[in-house]
Amino acid sequence: MKPPDFNLNPLTFSMEIFNVYPLLDLEPVKAKGAYVYCQDGNKYLDFYGGHAVISIGHSHPHYVNKISEQLQNIGFYSNSVQNPLQKKFAQKLGQLSGYDDYQIFFSNSGAESVENALKMASFQNSRSKVISFDKAFHGRTSNALGVTDDERYRAPINENNKVVFLDFNDLVGLDHELNKGDISAVVIEPIQGIGGIRVFDDVFLQQARELCKEHNTVLICDEIQSGAGRTGKFFAHQHAGIKPDIITIAKGIGNGFPFAATLLSPDFEPWYGQLGSTFGGNHLACTAATAVLEVIEDEQLIRNAAEVGSYFKQQLSDLPQIKEVRGRGLMLGVEFPFPVKKLRQKLIEEEQVVTGVSSNPNVLRLLPPLNITRKETDQFINAMQNALEQPQPLQ
Ligand SMILES: Cc1ncc(COP(=O)(O)O)c(C=O)c1O
Repeated sequence: MKPPDFNLNPLTFSMEIFNVYPLLDLEPVKAKGAYVYCQDGNKYLDFYGGHAVISIGHSHPHYVNKISEQLQNIGFYSNSVQNPLQKKFAQKLGQLSGYDDYQIFFSNSGAESVENALKMASFQNSRSKVISFDKAFHGRTSNALGVTDDERYRAPINENNKVVFLDFNDLVGLDHELNKGDISAVVIEPIQGIGGIRVFDDVFLQQARELCKEHNTVLICDEIQSGAGRTGKFFAHQHAGIKPDIITIAKGIGNGFPFAATLLSPDFEPWYGQLGSTFGGNHLACTAATAVLEVIEDEQLIRNAAEVGSYFKQQLSDLPQIKEVRGRGLMLGVEFPFPVKKLRQKLIEEEQVVTGVSSNPNVLRLLPPLNITRKETDQFINAMQNALEQPQPLQ
């Protein structure tokens, strides 16, 4: 028999990337602070942070040093041994967020932390029905997808969820559903990200808090995008002065290192095996996330997010052709009376500025690093002015 030929032409026989992402024509090779440097030799101002992930800026020296140092010692061991790095992170998180009486369960992605939140709610009250809201996005695993308001992503195997979708800020609907007495959890992004930067009314959140308490329903705030100081408070729900029973975190808390967690009020009592994860809370992940918290604290980035955020919001509101600017701190959405696809492309190609989009085609999503300066927001505004003044139609 002829031996197999291992010198096959790699161009003819190479594994394909499963093609599910429409890609921007950008190939970042290096990044620093608010900038990414691409293969094409250009430097781009990054007001997107790769889906709201970059919080303390790209390649922050403290973050790089801490991760590099940790890697020299131990990068990983599973949750079967003592890991004081978990306690160190939890202590810092409790102190910075004001939730030092809560418990933490570590995982790796946003969807996982939502999945665990929904599961814990169901363990707690032995119910299985959940309330979510229109345009919500909570992730792509089965239960997280169940409470995501986008049917396109749901395969038949994901259809076994018992979820009631209510209109945004619909207090009457919420009251009506909770009165039935069978709702396990209400899951809310205090500021919807992918839904187009929509801010829930403080009064709605306060009432939701009260109603959930009254009906033994677990209130879950998904702070995966809005947490880690982005909105000018550690968590976006803190603007409304409420305390949810469960909080989910991911994205900015790791600044790019895969890290997520579910925070649980003292009412939840764990038992061995109730939740689990191989990688969750590993040495390198905890080091990365602790470094993020240290930078947030040392550089007072929550204050910066509030201050530069309100300056930036005002600047954006003064631009021509804008319908509305929404959001808090450095989690901002700019709505135009036309689809933003061409504008976003122009910003990349002609102004070297990267922005995000949302499920609303008319909204640009802006998520710069929390240490962005006024000078950099001025630069962004200049770029927007140029792009909006161009003679070619943007619609
Ligand atoms: C609010 C919110 N929840 C959950 C998720 C899912 O996170 P991940 O993609 O890490 O699973 C996202 C992701 O964009 C999100 O914005």
